[in-house]
Amino acid sequence: MTLAQPDLLSPEAVADPYPMLADLRERDPVHWSERYRSWFVTRYADVDAALRDPRFSSDRIAPYRRARLSGPDTDPAVRAAFGVLENWMVFKDPPDHTRLRKLLGRAFTPRAVERVRTRVAEIADELLDALADRSEADLIGEFAYPLTASVVAEMLGVPRVDRDRFKDWSDRITGLVFGGMGDADRHTDGAGGMAELTAYLGELVAHHEREPADDLLSALVRARDSGDALSHEEVVATGVLLLFAGHETTTNVIGNGIRALLEHPGQAPDAPGTVEETLRFDGPAKTIARLMATDVELGGRTLRAGERVFLCPAAANRDPDVFADPDRFDVGRKPGRQLGFGVGLHYCLGAPLARLEASIAIPAVFRRLPALRPTGTPEWHPVLLSRGMTAFPVEF
Ligand code: HEM
Repeated sequence: MTLAQPDLLSPEAVADPYPMLADLRERDPVHWSERYRSWFVTRYADVDAALRDPRFSSDRIAPYRRARLSGPDTDPAVRAAFGVLENWMVFKDPPDHTRLRKLLGRAFTPRAVERVRTRVAEIADELLDALADRSEADLIGEFAYPLTASVVAEMLGVPRVDRDRFKDWSDRITGLVFGGMGDADRHTDGAGGMAELTAYLGELVAHHEREPADDLLSALVRARDSGDALSHEEVVATGVLLLFAGHETTTNVIGNGIRALLEHPGQAPDAPGTVEETLRFDGPAKTIARLMATDVELGGRTLRAGERVFLCPAAANRDPDVFADPDRFDVGRKPGRQLGFGVGLHYCLGAPLARLEASIAIPAVFRRLPALRPTGTPEWHPVLLSRGMTAFPVEF
């Protein structure tokens, strides 16, 4: 491996990023990548500190839109799609972030999460029932993905008949959010998916504005904080964010957890620490992006205002300064400080839902498919930000 220009998108690193990340963490923990014109930060202490530091800004869509998408030849659909992303709290700094997070917090309550507990188990059972007469399946496409998509769609109040359309829209938006910022084709396709999804949710939100129901979209319409409320566009954008953030990542933690358990026989799928250890050992958030708001010294390097930074939970979570024997998957590990849900102001709002879904789904698979074995080599999404399989072929 050449450390001079390590490439996290090389086929070897997409299949297994951990050796490259370990090498960076040891030898160049705050690394400038000429290839990506970005910094990569890999030590636990640095990633943790940067995630809590407001000078590492989350506000990265608005500057991009101003700089790159304001010209007359920009596709209006691409500009509109980035306009929706600009309303996502995950891409905002205070005070806008504080306002959106408070209002969403009024609707996305622990009670709303707890209410779907029985539904998660029922949907998991239905999907596993459908595999009863089979001997092989793709656990991503036929289990994790439909499970997490159904749960979040049901919470939002999306009618059952429309749920399949969400998969297509969400797949296309993935290219927009996780893809390279400069990839025009992916932008155009993602923008098409975003336009269809926002038109769909726009109608649903308008319906709930007239006739509130007992679901999350209606709760978002009703949410108030000191007289403040979300606008129609903000409710729609937040619906897209929840749908997207809520199932892509959770699909990946279920897939990665099952895979880790299969590769480490003897570890219990239903141990209290299984989901937490999956998030540490092979979590869905490989890196988290930030934009420098000002010059900052980190690890003896100067990160300049305007530069992009990839903070790497995947490297921090295997830092031997914090986790003993970090490359070992051990569900009995003392619950710790893994950074798989981020930390600080943007700490994952959906963490309780993700934990609930994964802690039901992973043991259900092992209970219902006891002779489970992987077949072939899994394919991984070739992206910098997330870590998940495109398909997970198994036999049982
Ligand atoms: C295992 C599954 C999940 C993982 C690994 C994950 C990971 C993350 C991470 C790392 C962040 C921080 C991003 C940053 O600092 O820029 C985040 C934020 C967020 N997540 Fe999750 N997430 C998961 C599931 C969910 C679910 C199920 C939902 C909701 C349905 C959700 C909703 C959100 C939202 C709304 C934010 C933005 C919070 C903010 O900006 O204040 N996530 N997630």
